[in-house]
Amino acid sequence: MQTTPVRIWDLPTRLFHWTLLLGVGFSWFCAETGGNWMVWHERSGMFLLALVLFRIIWGFIGSDTARFAHFLASPMHALKHLRGLASKEPAFHVGHNPLGAWMVVTLLATLLVQGATGLFATDDIMTEGPLIGLVSGNTAELLTSIHHLAFNILLLLVIVHVSVVMFYRFYKRTNLVKAMVLGQADWPAGQPQPGTLTFRGAWLGLVTFGVTYACVHFGVGFLASL
Ligand code: HEM
Ligand code: HEM
Repeated sequence: MQTTPVRIWDLPTRLFHWTLLLGVGFSWFCAETGGNWMVWHERSGMFLLALVLFRIIWGFIGSDTARFAHFLASPMHALKHLRGLASKEPAFHVGHNPLGAWMVVTLLATLLVQGATGLFATDDIMTEGPLIGLVSGNTAELLTSIHHLAFNILLLLVIVHVSVVMFYRFYKRTNLVKAMVLGQADWPAGQPQPGTLTFRGAWLGLVTFGVTYACVHFGVGFLASL
């Protein structure tokens, strides 16, 4: 099949994705190892919280394919897409497909709950989230349980997410991973070409992330000092 490379994902979205994967892995390792590693769990957790907030902001100001308005479709649309999944035809989308879009939002929402509840979590031994002083003991206990539950939900979602990506790769012969790594998809010559897409500069992504991280870092520091 003759294909031409078509740019789909900007650098900030790709860096977001692969840093998120590494960050979640590292944060998980630190939490499971415990002890002094909990300091790194909290640091990496705050970083991940900023990363997810950045992605949400990028969903409004970023490149076309990164914007929620570009990829969020009605549930009806998503269901229609689900019915087309059984076909072995390769599937080409300029960005997330209508079903994948809901998975993206669910993953981001779960990660947001995970990061936010961590700020109030406690292991009842030596580690406490920086904002635990703002809530009662009962609330901290509840938020810690949500922190645990959110991670189990996240693991389940990631298993489904990776399985779907593999399904596309081996059943529908569509390589989504390559596009998320290189930014470009191999577009078949016969397929209608995607219209003109607008891409924002990587520097804007970097500055946006820097500002978001600083807000999280100093904002949490300020709230902790109250
Ligand atoms: C902790 C594990 C992971 C999390 C939390 C995660 C989360 C996400 C999120 C939030 C997106 C949306 C990207 C955006 O629009 O910004 C996404 C897309 C994507 N992820 Fe992951 N991911 C994980 C692991 C993986 C792994 C291991 C792979 C590769 C096998 C992968 C492959 C992809 C691909 C190919 C897309 C683009 C899907 C499309 O074309 O619509 N992800 N992921
Ligand atoms: C998205 C980011 C985060 C992920 C993926 C994550 C994941 C986890 C996991 C897997 C555990 C272990 C649960 C268990 O023992 O079964 C945990 C515990 C914990 N996390 Fe996070 N976390 C994140 C963010 C944060 C943040 C931002 C903080 C605070 C700054 C934090 C503070 C804690 C504390 C204090 C515990 C101990 C709770 C306990 O052992 O009962 N986490 N986290």
